[in-house]
Amino acid sequence: MTASLKDSISLQVVLGTQWGDEGKGKVVDLLGENADIVARYQGGPNAGHTVEFDGECFILHHIPSGILRDHTKCIIGNGVVINPDSIMEEIAFLENKGISVLDRLFISMNAHLILPYHHLIEKAFEGREGGLAIGTTGRGIGPAYADKINRVGIRMGDLLDSNGLTEKISQNVHMKNRILEKVFNAAGVDVTELLEGLHNFRENVRGCITDTTWMLHQELQKEKRVLVEGAQGTLLDIDFGTYPYVTSSNTTIGGLSTGLGISVRKVDRVIGVIKAYTTRVGNGPLPTELEEDFGEKIRKIGGEYGATTGRPRRCGWFDGMVARFATQINDVDVLAVTKLDVLETIEQIQVCTGYRYQGKELDHYPMSNRILDEIEPVYEVLPGWQAPITEIRKYSDLPEEARNYLSKIEEITGLPIGIVSVGPNREETIWK
Ligand code: IMP
Repeated sequence: MTASLKDSISLQVVLGTQWGDEGKGKVVDLLGENADIVARYQGGPNAGHTVEFDGECFILHHIPSGILRDHTKCIIGNGVVINPDSIMEEIAFLENKGISVLDRLFISMNAHLILPYHHLIEKAFEGREGGLAIGTTGRGIGPAYADKINRVGIRMGDLLDSNGLTEKISQNVHMKNRILEKVFNAAGVDVTELLEGLHNFRENVRGCITDTTWMLHQELQKEKRVLVEGAQGTLLDIDFGTYPYVTSSNTTIGGLSTGLGISVRKVDRVIGVIKAYTTRVGNGPLPTELEEDFGEKIRKIGGEYGATTGRPRRCGWFDGMVARFATQINDVDVLAVTKLDVLETIEQIQVCTGYRYQGKELDHYPMSNRILDEIEPVYEVLPGWQAPITEIRKYSDLPEEARNYLSKIEEITGLPIGIVSVGPNREETIWK
């Protein structure tokens, strides 16, 4: 592995080490300068990757943030779920801003579609009486992945076979409408309208649908530089997260293999994006959650409102147990610490270094919500730097207290920090 994140490398991955919203969009955009291809492996329009430059703010939901660099090709892998209307809106938004998309976007023929019945089923499920609301983004993600696993999903490649599509959609709508009407007492969807919309969608994206796995292998053979982008974060992973309060895909490193068709053995570097504090949106455990007043303060300074739904994010102190767990299971090589500037007014910063459970300190992160609900975080208190840092570009120019805080993160994780983000803009970055 080369030392600097600015050095070019064949295959690198950027993924989230907390509950999403770590600032992956900005990191992918920064590294995208030195990438030929940027590929996304899972999730869908539940993600909201925010990138700011030249006074403009872009929020991307399906399309990899690499699209904002005009030399990159972008791939949406088979592991992603796509909402036809919302991806078309995203493409139109970018093209209106003068960013060419359709000639640089490649969508896996095996990526699944999110269809109107998925939204309706999710809404009925989340709102059901006595049910366990996950607090989803309401984008139909869970039902779309459920159909994939249940082998009744509609894939991008199905759009290219009109008769087959009509048959599959008709069968699905028949079944889903019965569930909606009979179980949830809700209205179903109109099959003709749905098919019409899908035919229009096909005409718009026909040229983008391809075998992206073959394409990626070809590009890697030509020694092109590939940057892979994960969505959400490790603790939202369907297997390793705080289940059931998770998303419906593998956000962790394994998702790269199943969501793109590349072996993890090909990965040269894993970059773990970690926010200088913790946030989560939606329900479920958050061991270091701040009291409401203080949480509100951080939320306001950090603009911690969901990029997709606008919901206020819950805020907490940096959680070293989560950081160690996430960096271990993803085999992270180097960290990108984001939003350090948000802490610049805080007098005393707490860092969670362990969890106490039933009077004893745990030696590893417990993958159990029951235990997480009962643990007591063990904190170390570090003095804040209480000075603005957004204009700083050199690590050595950071106040000593800020450097100490970062060193603590390195000590807890045993990993080096390669990037420190001190503001939302591209330039507001320190390369270590
Ligand atoms: P879903 O992915 O919409 O099914 O939502 C499941 C859980 O994941 C909810 O707690 C959401 O708030 C959370 N979630 C999904 N996508 C994101 C994201 O991009 N950032 C942060 N949280 C997310």
